[in-house]
Amino acid sequence: MVSHIKPIVKHSLIKLWPEAWEALNIIRGRKSKTTISENPPKFTFQGWGMTTTTTNPPWVKGQDSIAQSFLQIHNEIIERIQNQSFIQSESTLYKDISGQIHLFNELMWRHYLVCWSIIYASQMTKVKQINIAECGVCDGVTAFFVMKVLQKYNYSFKCYLYDSWEAMKSDYLVESELSKTGWYSDASITRTKQNLKDFDGFTIFNQGFIPDSLETSTSPENLVWLHIDLNSSIPTRIALEFFFDKMPSGSVILLDDYAWADFQDTRDVVDAFFKNRAGLFLHFPTGQGIFLKDTSI
Ligand SMILES: C[S@@+](CC[C@H](N)C(=O)[O-])C[C@H]1O[C@@H](n2cnc3c(N)ncnc32)[C@H](O)[C@@H]1O
Repeated sequence: MVSHIKPIVKHSLIKLWPEAWEALNIIRGRKSKTTISENPPKFTFQGWGMTTTTTNPPWVKGQDSIAQSFLQIHNEIIERIQNQSFIQSESTLYKDISGQIHLFNELMWRHYLVCWSIIYASQMTKVKQINIAECGVCDGVTAFFVMKVLQKYNYSFKCYLYDSWEAMKSDYLVESELSKTGWYSDASITRTKQNLKDFDGFTIFNQGFIPDSLETSTSPENLVWLHIDLNSSIPTRIALEFFFDKMPSGSVILLDDYAWADFQDTRDVVDAFFKNRAGLFLHFPTGQGIFLKDTSI
């Protein structure tokens, strides 16, 4: 076979008809599948249910400014976990420091998207004073990333945080979610305030159960970015209803639980909510969903 055609045929066969490539190798007496598993591919990213092998994530080998800012914040929070100036609840997936660092490395795509989405919203809405809100804060990990990146971009902002900082109650859960009753029993507002002490003066802590707490909380009149991570569908729907009309075109709503198989009810309420609303919804392999509000569409 002409030498330059050979690799093209080989590549096409591997991609389009891998069984035929395998059979051909066996006939030619060459090693096949076993060789592949003996030399496993190098992972460029692994975690949160995703594995990539041949593509680099945004923060590797690129010069994109959001990705580089994200990486600095990621390294900073890992340092704080190591020196215990950022403390997580015991109910987080890992109790020991090395397990927590492993988890942060697995969460890199998630936190990159947090950083990207707030910078997108800030640039698209062009508002001078940026208001943001998070429903479901726990120890303040996402709040840390979002406020750090706003500081790096020199934005003036206020961050409204909503959480019960108490165990989840069955009153706010639908039947499929009842197994989550009691989750986050060790969440602590004092610890979260300590974790977020760099942002004193820019953070408003609203403690209480959504939806009830929304009536009495200190809430922004308008906001450009909303993160919902409540592990429950009814409070998610009510938070969307409460905040959506306060958000100008260009704003972003980031939904953490959207595509997790265990949170189908949340996905259903989110899909129903955005069905006829102006903007575009994007679903990520991290399980996050993002709504880019655009009233010109
Ligand atoms: C997954 S954690 C949030 C993690 C946080 N977004 C982060 O990325 O660091 C979910 C939080 O939502 C809180 N939560 C659940 N249901 C709630 C409700 N109905 N009202 C207020 N907080 C609630 C839990 O107590 C818990 O702290």
